[in-house]
Amino acid sequence: MDVIRIEGGSFLQGRITAGGAKNSVLPIFAACLLTEDECVIRNVPDLSDVRYMGKILEHVGASVADEGDGVWRIRAAEVRPEAPYELVRKMRASICLLGALVGRLGEARVSMPGGCVIGPRPIDLHMKGLRKLSCQVEVEAGYLRVDGHSRRGGDVFLGGRYGSTVTGTANLVMAAVRTPGKTRIECAACEPEIVDLCTLLQEMGALIEGVGSPTLVIHGVDSLKGVDHSVIPDRIETGTYLIAGALAGSGLEVVGAPPSLLGAFTDKMEEVGVGLEFNQGVWTVHSAADRNPVDLITLPHPGFPTDLQAQMCTLLAITPGISVLTERVYPNRFMHVPELQRMGADLAIEGASCIVKGRKSLSGAPVMASDLRASAALVLAGLVATGETWIQRVYHLDRGYQCMDAKLRAVGARIERLPDSEMPKHLLGEDN
Ligand code: EPU
Repeated sequence: MDVIRIEGGSFLQGRITAGGAKNSVLPIFAACLLTEDECVIRNVPDLSDVRYMGKILEHVGASVADEGDGVWRIRAAEVRPEAPYELVRKMRASICLLGALVGRLGEARVSMPGGCVIGPRPIDLHMKGLRKLSCQVEVEAGYLRVDGHSRRGGDVFLGGRYGSTVTGTANLVMAAVRTPGKTRIECAACEPEIVDLCTLLQEMGALIEGVGSPTLVIHGVDSLKGVDHSVIPDRIETGTYLIAGALAGSGLEVVGAPPSLLGAFTDKMEEVGVGLEFNQGVWTVHSAADRNPVDLITLPHPGFPTDLQAQMCTLLAITPGISVLTERVYPNRFMHVPELQRMGADLAIEGASCIVKGRKSLSGAPVMASDLRASAALVLAGLVATGETWIQRVYHLDRGYQCMDAKLRAVGARIERLPDSEMPKHLLGEDN
């Protein structure tokens, strides 16, 4: 296993490019199962989650080729309806196979995903949606078994206690595009990654109205055709590097998601006092001399994304004054908090909120990554902390950030990836 070592205090200058959106690619790969034709997917980031999704597609019968340069070819001439526990348990997002298998074969047997460090992640809304399409859905020995041979369009309200569901919407749309009749989904997720999926499906011949809005109307078709599609840029990776620029940059440039995908985030950054400019596809971020504390609430899109909350916590931890971060998507998503506290951040969790008392500085420490976005928050903290930060369990980072250490090194960060055998023994944390 690798660790990351960062020596804080360097200035970031130059240009970083964000890759394709991980959370678009995963359902888009699944959607390739909806046709027998070949699909070419471009701008695919080289991430462990993406490679894993490729393996899952192979397991259900597709031929999958990574052609290099972010181009993947997927052909699902024949498909099996089963995704076993050994595969699904390692990546929760593999549940997005469900809708594609139902759409293609009229049946699916997919292992129920387990819990996750960011909190309970039920799939009741996915099940409710499929039932509204007249599918029979049962949980049996840890598996979700769907019989959709008599499926037909229906009206579905897909809102839950935390609002819409992203993967639930993806699943229902993928099932509905090849379900006879008209399906109407209310409270559909509006995330850009759902728009990207719907765009791909439309290019394949699906009939979907209202894309990007909370009401989707889908007219089922008998078959879909192959596609050549380029994935949208990753707005979360883009936002993470914009925060890096705000913390440690000196006119850092970031090529990635455009303002239309980042409205709530850039609005908050401006309130903090960070100067952002977007010109001809390139962001320039100016770190503010005087930053202001903010209240921030994560919400489904177009609200502030939960996937940028941990990174924002790092920025606010060294912004004078008291900020409040409230989670309305995953009320327990604060695993970064105890690790940032080890670096001197003054943070307190109150229910679904984190109260941040901004400090002048953070100090480097050995810390443990617990999930993808928490890892990114720790890397950002390491960039500005005094002294050395060692981050263990960086495989979490590799799930969603392609070569983050190399990208940051290229713009001046003193960051390196080492085998954990090179980490001083007295700094090693308990790996239990
Ligand atoms: N929920 C339910 N019932 C359901 C489904 C969801 O109550 O049937 C709840 C969840 O427990 C949560 C909320 O609804 O409180 C939102 O969950 P959602 O289903 O939208 O999340 P997801 O589809 O499982 C995707 C991303 C996450 C991102 C969330 C929210 C993928 C593969 N994952 O998860 O990404 O945080 O949407 O935007 O698209 C990440 O990239 O780090 C990540 C965790």
